[in-house]
Amino acid sequence: MTAKARVAVLLSGVGSNMEALVHAGRQPDAPFEVVLVLSNNPAAPGLARAEALGAPARTIDHRPFDPDRGAHERAIDAALRAAEVGWVALAGYMRVLTPFLVNAWTGRMLNIHPSLLPKYPGLNTHARALAAGDRVHGCTVHFVTEGVDAGAVLKMAAVPVLEGDTIASLTARVQAAEHELYPRVLARLTRSAF
Ligand code: GRF
Repeated sequence: MTAKARVAVLLSGVGSNMEALVHAGRQPDAPFEVVLVLSNNPAAPGLARAEALGAPARTIDHRPFDPDRGAHERAIDAALRAAEVGWVALAGYMRVLTPFLVNAWTGRMLNIHPSLLPKYPGLNTHARALAAGDRVHGCTVHFVTEGVDAGAVLKMAAVPVLEGDTIASLTARVQAAEHELYPRVLARLTRSAF
């Protein structure tokens, strides 16, 4: 059997997408596995979640490096290479990356964003979709480039916006789509890379 592609997940918060990727990577026929969960935030609930799953988790707090973003990213990059990672999946990683890390992982770093890009890059996407009266919303997996949420789109998943939706109900519907979409895209990419 071919070795699985080695994936790191970078997060800052809850970690539900990380969990979906860890579970997917543990399926016997999965072409990838999550070998490292990395957080810039020591208080991220995703760290405890990774530990509960038995996934190797590590914090590289950005604060001791402030304001040197480059130095923080060099530490992240070193951790990724030490873990012999081939792919990086951003999953709620709340730092804007500098060209250094983006260029180091071009074509190997993905992100999941909670909107149908190019609609609503940045934050508060669910509130913006509701305020605009959109009937359809969703999520996008894209390659990471220097522009925020601007890299080539790999795949999107659409969900309906229903009468009476709140930010919470819409978030839950989009997140369910994220948890299905992200592992599927990563599997397709890593399978075709072998
Ligand atoms: C997700 O909605 C994702 O689209 C966005 O950040 C959120 C992370 O959620 N980039 P979680 O930490 O994976 O639960």
